Amino acid sequence: MGASLVVASNRGPVQFTGDSDETAVPRRGGGGLVTAIGPALADGGGVWIAASMSDADRRVAASRPMLTVVLPEGRIRLRLLSPAQEVYDAFYNEIGNRVLWPLNHCLFDLARGPAFDGAFRAAWKHFRTVNEGYAAACADAAATNAEVFVHDYHLALAPSALRRSRPDLKIAHYTHCPWPDPHYFAVLPTGRELIEGMLGADLLGFEVPRWAANFLRCCAALGHQVDSAAVLAPDGRRVQVRSYPLGVDATQLRRAAAAPAVAAGRRRLSSMSGDAVVVVRVDRLEPSKNILRGLRAFQELLTRRPELRGRIVHWVLAYESRQQVPEYQRYAGDLHSAVAEINARFGDSRWTPVRLATDDDYPRSLAALSLADMIVVNPLWDGQNMVAKEGPVINEKDAPLLLSRNAGAADDLAAGALMVNPFDTAELADAMAAALDMTAEERAERAALVREAAVRAPPREWFGQQRRDLAEAAGLQASTVHR
Ligand code: G6P
Repeated sequence: MGASLVVASNRGPVQFTGDSDETAVPRRGGGGLVTAIGPALADGGGVWIAASMSDADRRVAASRPMLTVVLPEGRIRLRLLSPAQEVYDAFYNEIGNRVLWPLNHCLFDLARGPAFDGAFRAAWKHFRTVNEGYAAACADAAATNAEVFVHDYHLALAPSALRRSRPDLKIAHYTHCPWPDPHYFAVLPTGRELIEGMLGADLLGFEVPRWAANFLRCCAALGHQVDSAAVLAPDGRRVQVRSYPLGVDATQLRRAAAAPAVAAGRRRLSSMSGDAVVVVRVDRLEPSKNILRGLRAFQELLTRRPELRGRIVHWVLAYESRQQVPEYQRYAGDLHSAVAEINARFGDSRWTPVRLATDDDYPRSLAALSLADMIVVNPLWDGQNMVAKEGPVINEKDAPLLLSRNAGAADDLAAGALMVNPFDTAELADAMAAALDMTAEERAERAALVREAAVRAPPREWFGQQRRDLAEAAGLQASTVHR
């Protein structure tokens, strides 16, 4: 029997490790997606379709085309797709990580790249093939009239491919990252195909209204008819475009923060920090997070306020990600050099101003966020940024939040956070100084505003709203067709 709910994403809810299918162990990823959609998938007889990302995943997929993983959210049926290695590599690393991610975050170094040459076109064909493979797997798994939720830029072409084979389905696509303006989007030679791929859906979701508005402007620039919340697809359907800002599940997060491993992390971090003021950031180690400018601002603070030396520590928890990508490797190298430079210039035998850790240690991240005196979130651009929401919810010191205006989270948190232009290191240094000087009353007031806004639309509600809107959007479609 087909599934009434199908979810498709590149990264699935678990990744396997182990040398053989018999010994393979699933490890749950840190992502919020499983928290949001896991319960609905488990209750409703759903299927999650994801890519094999490790060798162990591929071995498991080869022997078990459909498997069941047991998670706190329930038992989830999972289908892992394993395209040929070079096809997947083109899809994920070349197009996903080196073209679409930098496009959506305006990260291209336009004077030198990207090279949209024959190699790009060959990689794009593979990108299309993987998207078609996903569409076929969704078509295969879905019951008549089922709901299909397709996630993120990796799978932008899947909605239209799926609609061609299964017009009965209700299809939604959600973009978890920002969307650039038409001027920047026009850099991509395959932009029309990408957008028309997404227009196969009934409902397109974005994190915040800014990204949805940019998407609509890109559609208009390509000649599609748009209004403030919909686009006319080439086949005459009205595709709804909405935003769904994700919030924090406070109960679940506080439970995670109460775990013994987090308490142990807090003891370690406290003993290493002593009485110093603790400035914390937690990010994936990647260029859009703007970690280097954050360090420059910290350096400027130490230069402006020499009395802080020996009395402040900056914890930079930047866990490695996508290390196959040369731009990421270079960024990681620059980060290590910048940390070494600041420590050599300002530190001494008793004081290390910046502590950098690049391994993925979730309990340590929660520990650091809970005992921070100041939390820094300064991405160049970010779809939402959940650290900005999660940090303040578990922080115990009313730590001021320093937040980039270009993070989607700014829409919800601006009233309580100290807002900065992420390109302006002097402004970030000013904000760090202001956070240090802030009265206890102002800290408490701002922290309360941030916490209250951060827990609006927790994951289950976020997904529930999308399901209701998808039913409505697909219903409208049906009535249009019958008229
Ligand atoms: C962002 C993207 C996700 C992606 C995640 C981790 O949040 O929007 O689609 O899964 O980063 O990146 P990775 O490449 O490791 O899956």
